[in-house]
Amino acid sequence: MIRYNEPYVSGREIGYIKDVLATGRIAGGGEYTKKCETIIEALTSSNKALLTHSCTAALEMAALLMKVKPGDEIIMPSYTFVSTANAFVLRGATPVFVDISKDNFCLDADKVVASINKNTVGIVPVHYGGLCADMDKISDIAHEYNLFIIEDAAQSLGCSYKGKKLGSFGCLSTLSFHETKNLNCGEGGALCINDENLIESAEIMREKGTNRSRFFRGQVDKYSWVDVGSSFIPSELNAAFLFAQLETINLAQESRENVWKYYESSLSSMPNLLIPKSFIEENHNCHIFPIVTKNAKERQQLLDFMNSKGINAVFHYVPLHSSEAGKKFGLAAEDLSVTNDLPDRLVRLPLYSNMKKEHAESVVSAVLEFYA
Ligand SMILES: Cc1ncc(COP(=O)(O)O)c(C=O)c1O
Repeated sequence: MIRYNEPYVSGREIGYIKDVLATGRIAGGGEYTKKCETIIEALTSSNKALLTHSCTAALEMAALLMKVKPGDEIIMPSYTFVSTANAFVLRGATPVFVDISKDNFCLDADKVVASINKNTVGIVPVHYGGLCADMDKISDIAHEYNLFIIEDAAQSLGCSYKGKKLGSFGCLSTLSFHETKNLNCGEGGALCINDENLIESAEIMREKGTNRSRFFRGQVDKYSWVDVGSSFIPSELNAAFLFAQLETINLAQESRENVWKYYESSLSSMPNLLIPKSFIEENHNCHIFPIVTKNAKERQQLLDFMNSKGINAVFHYVPLHSSEAGKKFGLAAEDLSVTNDLPDRLVRLPLYSNMKKEHAESVVSAVLEFYA
């Protein structure tokens, strides 16, 4: 079976984990955590990065930091992972699901204003596959209506929009290091902070509501409970694993990009087969190789065909406005025409760093055979 994803491993992970074990201090917040955070700050041009145990945790921290409360409405695409919405639902707020653009599967900036009302407090653009919404327009809207922007950049480490790093647009942004992402530590994430006024509160929140980080820096002589918080910090073992990945990001990306480009050069001239133009024309981190089929029936046939060849191609996400919890907790914008159509037709081909050449060739042959 050719798996849809195999987690990237650089080969340095075990060595760094042994290092941590030798120190006898394996809880979070040590040297490897700091080293990871420094690299992430550079990759996102953010003022401060805090490692978390998932992107979900970083989104939950973001909702807490923004003091989101019952009655507040948050604009986001319906086409996203559940955590984008759940983080705000946990605070009693209402996600308002807005359509995506057919060009790049990201929030359609032209459809945002229609969903703003007196309860709206923020916008959460999701940078799909390293592409992103019209952030100029979204930033202008946020400014005009006094709304916060939290970027869900779970899939988008290292990407830019018009020369500005993704992760540096919102007051906060979130990253994932889940095993399915370009870089991973099994489960992991980061909260990137651009609004300097939020840095100290975020550190406190991540450390169970205590000023433990200040204590470790020698700024207070004991630490205690100072605010609301939870346990959002990953252990030093995860940080050591992640450092091995961050340190080798160029190698990981280069090998992923090679597979992506091979797919593109082999498939993009096929009639009947649609690869969204933005993925071909714009810069991204090769997180996803998408094919858009004619309709849902053809999508199922393609997935079944690939499966019969031992290839695990997949689809995602089920739009949140159509899910059981989405209907219960969220509100849907009137026009979700793209969201109601595109996700039903999307197929993601297997793609990961260090994918064997013969596996990539088998994937291409199967797609070509299906469309022949
Ligand atoms: C857009 C988006 N946001 C959030 C998440 C959650 O990430 P994690 O698994 O690190 O919590 C994902 C996971 O795939 C995602 O795709």
